[in-house]
Amino acid sequence: MRIIATLFLVTLLAGCKLHIIVPVGGTVITASGIYTCLAGQVCEIDVVDLLFDETFTAVPDGGYLFDRWKKRSDGRGFCAPSSTRFSPCRLYTSFYSNFPALLAFLDTEDVFYLEPVFILDADALQYFTDNISEAIVHDLCIDCHVAGGDADFSGLIFVAKSQANHLTINHQAFIDLGKALGDDDLSDYVTGMATDQIFHDGGVQMQPGSQEVQDLETYANMLE
Ligand code: HEC
Repeated sequence: MRIIATLFLVTLLAGCKLHIIVPVGGTVITASGIYTCLAGQVCEIDVVDLLFDETFTAVPDGGYLFDRWKKRSDGRGFCAPSSTRFSPCRLYTSFYSNFPALLAFLDTEDVFYLEPVFILDADALQYFTDNISEAIVHDLCIDCHVAGGDADFSGLIFVAKSQANHLTINHQAFIDLGKALGDDDLSDYVTGMATDQIFHDGGVQMQPGSQEVQDLETYANMLE
């Protein structure tokens, strides 16, 4: 009898899907290590039985913070109620067997969503605005590090002040460089290049030990 009941439940769940929608700014991972969904991806997971049990964690990139799991107007956003908004979020199906209404809800080809909202770390953006944008990016770097400049093939491209949202774009350029470096230290790399202590085709643009180098180091550390 028990076997029959279990098979019945498995059939009920057969069509349910979980879509993980990850925006720019982070990654969603699971404690089991089975699923990793990267920024810009939509990952589809089939929830086929009552043994599904995964704990999802939203991991922000450097320069970003996890804000919340997104609530949807159709009620299909998982983990979104404010009481459970904080990452990590456990999704498991075993308790559904006690709730026939939930089981019916999971029936058919229904899709449910897990969508983190990442926001820019306001402190890092503020530091960039106050100490980096003018004194470093525009005064020392952008002549080469711009489309059409000597460094336009490099991984660090800025936009001119005339562009309305240049602050967030140029701040993002540092965030992206940090991401491209992976485990390597962004502050060591960027100050090393700017001082030519790591070979820099652009030569010495900052003196080691100067205020600019210290500011750039402080800033880059905020993105790690
Ligand atoms: C005179 C031109 C010039 C200036 C000014 C200049 N750079 Fe560069 N930079 C280059 C060139 C060319 C490259 C690509 C070749 C290389 O890696 O050396 C580069 C590469 C880099 C890289 C490596 C990017 C990557 O893809 O890994 C970093 C970091 C960097 N520069 C930082 C800076 C900073 C910070 C400033 C301002 C303080 C600056 N540069 C000013 C010419 C310049």
